[in-house]
Amino acid sequence: MCGIIGFTGNINAKEVLLQGLKALEYRGYDSAGISFFTETGLKTIKAVGKVAGLAEKAAMSDDCTKCGIGHTRWATHGGVSEVNCHPHHFGKVTLIHNGIIENYKELQEELASEGKEPVSQTDSEIAAMVIDSYYKADPVSAIKKAVKKLRGAYAFCIMFEDHPGSIYAIRNGSPLVATNTGAGSIIASDMVALIKYSKDYFVLPEHHIAHLTEGSINITDLDHNEIEPDMLHVNWDMAAARKGGYEYFMLKEIHEQPEALRNTISPRIKDGMPDFSEDGIDDSLFADINRIIIAACGTAMHAGLIGKNMIEKLSRVPVSVDIASEFRYQDPVIDEKTLVITISQSGETADTLAALRLAKERGAKTLSIVNVKGSSIARESDYVLYTHAGPEIAVASTKAYTVQLAAMYLVSFRFAYIKEKISGKKTKELIKELEKMPGFVEKMLSCDKAIEPISNKLLKTESLFFIGRGLDYALSCEGSIKLKEISYIHSEAYAAGELKHGTISLITDNVPVIALATQEDVFAKMISNIREVRSRGAKVIMIAGADAQVDASLCDHLITLPPVNDVFAPFGAAIVLQYIAYYTAVARGLNVDQPRNLAKSVTVE
Ligand code: G6P
Repeated sequence: MCGIIGFTGNINAKEVLLQGLKALEYRGYDSAGISFFTETGLKTIKAVGKVAGLAEKAAMSDDCTKCGIGHTRWATHGGVSEVNCHPHHFGKVTLIHNGIIENYKELQEELASEGKEPVSQTDSEIAAMVIDSYYKADPVSAIKKAVKKLRGAYAFCIMFEDHPGSIYAIRNGSPLVATNTGAGSIIASDMVALIKYSKDYFVLPEHHIAHLTEGSINITDLDHNEIEPDMLHVNWDMAAARKGGYEYFMLKEIHEQPEALRNTISPRIKDGMPDFSEDGIDDSLFADINRIIIAACGTAMHAGLIGKNMIEKLSRVPVSVDIASEFRYQDPVIDEKTLVITISQSGETADTLAALRLAKERGAKTLSIVNVKGSSIARESDYVLYTHAGPEIAVASTKAYTVQLAAMYLVSFRFAYIKEKISGKKTKELIKELEKMPGFVEKMLSCDKAIEPISNKLLKTESLFFIGRGLDYALSCEGSIKLKEISYIHSEAYAAGELKHGTISLITDNVPVIALATQEDVFAKMISNIREVRSRGAKVIMIAGADAQVDASLCDHLITLPPVNDVFAPFGAAIVLQYIAYYTAVARGLNVDQPRNLAKSVTVE
């Protein structure tokens, strides 16, 4: 969703804001704007399109500023236009907002009865108007009164015309992280905008007001009590948040998978066994559980599908996977013996967070698998298992997915061991295989040469299918979303055996099929399903295990994985699917990292 940044200090704020917005652009990229204090008052520059356009406009004026706020927008209320672009002003208030004010219509009517009309169609401008209506020279008191009236999710950075050098911030739901350094105080939607200045930061607690000045950040709760925030530290640096010579972040992140896997797996292995003691996860969490629900969105949900397969296979404990946005409406059956696992790269996805809150309300134990430290989902879960993928900038998730798989495998091994469904010896054997995954994925990375020409042939395709059984079906779902997200080719993931119950009517010689057949136990059945689509004219791209005996007439392209135990094949097949999506999007001349209409972190429901 939107990216926001505020800076006040002793260096050129315009530059800090523009660089920060560039780093945050992956969160939203339909328009951008900055406002800053100058010697003659507040000035605002806005531009529709990318941050580069805003930077060009900003370069035309030589205003000097040490304090300002900036925003990159992903439109929710009101179309893409300069007037709807943030910052929004009303009276003495200038603000930027990430989130959605649900009762903005009501508030707008109230304001209209006082003769106040907004100029934009945004809910954010209404928030500026509400704050201004309470403003009598005391920013904190106006913010406190205003937020009592606002319903919905928000992260605001606010400047008041008569308080130059000060930025105020408050949040409910939407993320904000901040830090004070020798250069000044900086606040933003996420760490990628702060990392240039500091690796130490804090998450602004919800419903607390931060007052940023050059020398400090003062935080108070809504009763005026001052609080000290908990400081966090990231172990990645600026280089991780840059493209580092790759054409796109997505390609860079595909190549970072061996290291991300190593960082996620190694710290959780002690004496050859999976071990979560450093994560503060005690075995007692697993002991009483008789049911698991996994709730997540998008790619993270697909990692959950693989996790279900692994946990059920090894532990014989039932697992269901729920799309987090549907979870609440199913009135889920949960009790204290249910473990709800939420999976999220950002840790901020609004639907996943809402699912977690409901699970807790109903008495379930909660464990989250999250990439971003200190994020809302991580903080609100009973237990958290951090994946260590580092920052993921491309909208299409790659390294975050494979480390989520690794985390799910670790959980499934420990869980099965605690439930006495697998012996210590078997657990150690599985761990040994898992430890090979960074090297295995490293080998897989060189299959790009085989995939690029295949992707070039998919260039003009309008629709295609991914099919598979078991783990391969779960992977098909991920392959399909990846392709849709960035290449805009329609595709569907189908359980291979279900195809004949209707969908096979869509198969023609213009509809290619990507068939995943990496699992020996269902290989013969997959071959039958491939023959079914083949005899209806489909071009077939087949992904199979190292030892698969494949008749040359069965497919147009065959990609074989290096030798690996079948249950670990998803780590290799995932790379093939990521490359197919990537090279197809590149061949179609699309912006791989910033696909139309999508946002990296979806903080609205
Ligand atoms: C968005 C992103 C997807 C991601 C999903 C869940 O839709 O575009 O790539 O899988 O959100 O995000 P999360 O941060 O919760 O993993």
